[in-house]
Amino acid sequence: MPHYTKTDFPVDNVRRFLEPGPVVLVSSAHRDETNIMTMGWHMVVEFQPSLISCVISSANHSFEMIRKSRQCVINVPTVDLAAKVVKIGNCSGRDVDKFAEFDLTAKAAVQVRAPLIEECYANFECVLVDASQVNKYNVFIFEVVQAHVATAPKYPKTIHYRGDGEFMISGENTRRYRKLFRPEML
Ligand SMILES: Cc1cc2nc3c(=O)[nH]c(=O)nc-3n(C[C@H](O)[C@H](O)[C@H](O)COP(=O)(O)O)c2cc1C
Repeated sequence: MPHYTKTDFPVDNVRRFLEPGPVVLVSSAHRDETNIMTMGWHMVVEFQPSLISCVISSANHSFEMIRKSRQCVINVPTVDLAAKVVKIGNCSGRDVDKFAEFDLTAKAAVQVRAPLIEECYANFECVLVDASQVNKYNVFIFEVVQAHVATAPKYPKTIHYRGDGEFMISGENTRRYRKLFRPEML
């Protein structure tokens, strides 16, 4: 058993231990415009229907595009896109066309108007099903209505934000603890 010596830690920084990742790219479309933002603050809320909650700041151009269109695509990038992921998160669609600027391919989705980012490992087409927490917390709850996932590699090298400019790159995978699960909890 590890034994840790602990110190008081600033509560506004505990996110550094909890941010789940992977960092994703949220693509949107409204009227004749498309856009992309980087997002680390998301959480699975339900298996079925497949619900994901996302914090999208009202300061972001994406906020109004998604609030009005009630759709988006959650795209999962891998580490080879990391520099683009950071740059996309450090500029606004108000000023740049991010698909053109970052040389990413917008592919038509099946059920939503927001485009898939072809270069990402997975793309989840989402519709906004609950906007009740948008005004208070900038929290959007989406239902994933269609998912596109690469057939290989089995374990993509996703990037997970740890705050303060630091990322964790997904690495070791193990099924060592699988036998400890009750089947219905898998
Ligand atoms: C690693 C990383 C994680 C981010 N996570 C979020 C997030 O969870 N929610 C959010 O609103 N903005 C987040 N941002 C900031 C947005 O991506 C950024 O404000 C973006 O430029 C907004 O683009 P837009 O104005 O075109 O919508 C993150 C940025 C980075 C680099």
